[in-house]
Amino acid sequence: MTSSVTPATPVLEVRDLEVTFGSGHSAAKVLKGVSTAILRGKTLGIVGESGSGKSTLAKAIVGLNPVSAGSIAVNGKDVSRMSAAERRAMRREVQMIPQDPYSSLNPRRTIGQTLAEAIDPVRSNPRLHTDRITHWLSTIRLDPDVATRYPHEFSGGQRQRIAIARALAVEPRLIIADEITSALDLSVQAEILNLISRLRTELDLTMAFISHDLDVVHHVSDDIMVLFHGEVVELGDVDSVYGAPRHPYTRKLIDSVPGGPGFDIGERRQAAA
Ligand SMILES: Nc1ncnc2c1ncn2[C@@H]1O[C@H](COP(=O)(O)OP(=O)(O)OP(=O)(O)O)[C@@H](O)[C@H]1O
Ligand SMILES: [Mg+2]
Repeated sequence: MTSSVTPATPVLEVRDLEVTFGSGHSAAKVLKGVSTAILRGKTLGIVGESGSGKSTLAKAIVGLNPVSAGSIAVNGKDVSRMSAAERRAMRREVQMIPQDPYSSLNPRRTIGQTLAEAIDPVRSNPRLHTDRITHWLSTIRLDPDVATRYPHEFSGGQRQRIAIARALAVEPRLIIADEITSALDLSVQAEILNLISRLRTELDLTMAFISHDLDVVHHVSDDIMVLFHGEVVELGDVDSVYGAPRHPYTRKLIDSVPGGPGFDIGERRQAAA
């Protein structure tokens, strides 16, 4: 174990990252020199149009994509140099919240079983973890009796809350949320975003929050990174990105937010619903 981890060590540090799929003629460089970092307790919003490389970056962070050049460190450890045991540990330290709440929960497991497994994969009997299960359910504003029910008994928004609770129950160092509202109706999106906003402050989460919608990202992020064709064209705190965008693409994104920046997301989504 290294002892070089200090409070100032970023939870995530990505340096000059390149991800290339295929080889020879069919090689496609999807990420081109991406550098960024997330400090403890901070949320980095990652925005970009479809195909810009957002999910490719998310998967590279959890070790599911090849790193062609550059490096990714989680809590000061280079992901590509991890031993098998370190990699297993990292699977708990970095939790992804999936996009689709209809396919992400095991239909044959009760909510209690799913949460118990997140809390302790070795001793995953829900009866051993009643208090923790109740705690995580109350964190997402669901009643304790939900634990004995199955995913099909819940709406998309409720399932997404449960998927959030499952990620939280692991008590990871980093949460990656990749388009977690895009499969939901607009009014439900607002509800999930408000939940994420509250959890950020209550639990001091460290998070990468990915969306193609700048307005969505704006409401839950400390910093914003804009990806454009696999390159970082903007990186800075929310206010400076909104106040003085460097890249024309960011300007375009800001101008396309209905009602302009600062227009309340709940209102906008209700108006659109
Ligand atoms: N495993 C893979 N093999 C080959 N190409 C891939 C692979 N994964 C992603 N790509 C390509 O990389 C590019 C970026 O894809 P990615 O899924 O990262 O985009 P995204 O920003 O997440 O888009 P969206 O907003 O639609 O989710 C796309 O052109 C995609 O086809
Ligand atoms: Mg994606």
